[in-house]
Amino acid sequence: MNQPRSKAELFGAMGLGPVWELRNSTTAPSKTAVREAASLSELRQTVSICTACSLCESRTQTVFSDGVEHAPLMVVGEAPGADEDAMGLPFVGRAGVLLDKMLHAVGASRQKNVYIANVLKCRPPANRNPEAGEIRQCSPYLFQQIAANQPKILLLVGRFAIQTLLNTDKPVGELRGKLHHVTIEGLSIPAVVTYHPAYLLRRPGEKAKAWDDLLLLKQHQSVL
Ligand code: URA
Repeated sequence: MNQPRSKAELFGAMGLGPVWELRNSTTAPSKTAVREAASLSELRQTVSICTACSLCESRTQTVFSDGVEHAPLMVVGEAPGADEDAMGLPFVGRAGVLLDKMLHAVGASRQKNVYIANVLKCRPPANRNPEAGEIRQCSPYLFQQIAANQPKILLLVGRFAIQTLLNTDKPVGELRGKLHHVTIEGLSIPAVVTYHPAYLLRRPGEKAKAWDDLLLLKQHQSVL
């Protein structure tokens, strides 16, 4: 793909200017993917009535996924916030708007070729960080979601998604800049890690690094 040549192009691409471009892309689910569809809907149903941790008491509803099932790219975030809890969809608030812009910049979108889910399926009260016990209870749903989707590549945004799926406690800054692999049910799926869009909204100076991460993603995923 064409890399931004100037700072203006770069910041435009990161949502600080008007330079977002949507590339054409297609998603053709494989036969295996079509066979797997039932298990994703079963999993969604199981999650919708989950009472494994106390977050079930304060949620409006569970937030399972958005986007295209069996898409080549799967994005994993942290947990629903207030907007997501209200709508039942991941990344629909301000961070979601930035995530969509980031995805569009590399020819990806939840309407065409991206599946999005979170580590936690219920909103932590007052948007606090997920607790270790909540992640332990909820992450098996994510593992099953990944196994059922069989994405070609993962984009892990923020430390909770990264640390959960890479089984590490290293900070994002130490892990980004190289390709990782997530191993689930015998599948080894390439994974690019980057900062959470909510963090980028607070620290726009870090967007250039996130852009580099998106280029790494693009470099490793020709179908985007
Ligand atoms: N932040 C996340 O990590 N996930 C969402 O769905 C919304 C905000």
